[in-house]
Amino acid sequence: MILIREMRPNDLPAIARVNIETFRTTHRGIVSDAFMETLSYEKAEQRFQLMLANKEKLSATFVAEDSSFLVGYAMGGLAREKVQTFDGELYGIYVLPAYHHRGIGRQLVSAVSKRLIEQGAHSMFVVAFSNNGAARQFYEALRGQQIHERTAEIGGANVEEVIYGWSSLDSLLHDSRL
Ligand SMILES: CC(C)(COP(=O)(O)OP(=O)(O)OC[C@H]1O[C@@H](n2cnc3c(N)ncnc32)[C@H](O)[C@@H]1OP(=O)(O)O)[C@@H](O)C(=O)NCCC(=O)NCCS
Repeated sequence: MILIREMRPNDLPAIARVNIETFRTTHRGIVSDAFMETLSYEKAEQRFQLMLANKEKLSATFVAEDSSFLVGYAMGGLAREKVQTFDGELYGIYVLPAYHHRGIGRQLVSAVSKRLIEQGAHSMFVVAFSNNGAARQFYEALRGQQIHERTAEIGGANVEEVIYGWSSLDSLLHDSRL
């Protein structure tokens, strides 16, 4: 039985575990091997600690648990960069590979969207790697519109990114089987 609940500060080690294990499995070949080697549980935990401390920007943080074992998380909040008129952003969503295709991603996006609406946001965007086919199909299944593509530099190598947007969080909740 999967439980979706608010993220708590003592979840950080488990969130770092989910982030690193999922990133290593699903992003191999998308980012450079050199970048993969720089990943560490400690650094990931510190990064999430900083994000959680930045409460003004980060307002919607949820985890998915299977019998108290953390298997996924999603973080959202105010848009961190200007993308058209989108006011909310999905900063990250990660589900352990063994738990994919069970509707957990959908439930996490639903929780984040509802919280963003409660906090006055109307819309949301997310940045994905262009080569991340699973994430793209996930956002497209949720009726995200492709906004634009760009090139970013990660670990000294160029990586193509794509931005998906939902101009109405209400429509996202009601039209995407969330
Ligand atoms: C993207 C991700 C969060 C999706 O999580 P999930 O729990 O597997 O997604 P769901 O089961 O809720 O899927 C919802 C819908 O998205 C689509 N979808 C999800 N994964 C898909 C895939 N690999 N291929 C095709 N469609 C997919 C399906 O239409 C699915 O609906 P269905 O199961 O009724 O067919 C998960 O694959 C993940 O953690 N990936 C690695 C981390 C990552 O890339 N995060 C995004 C960074 S931008």
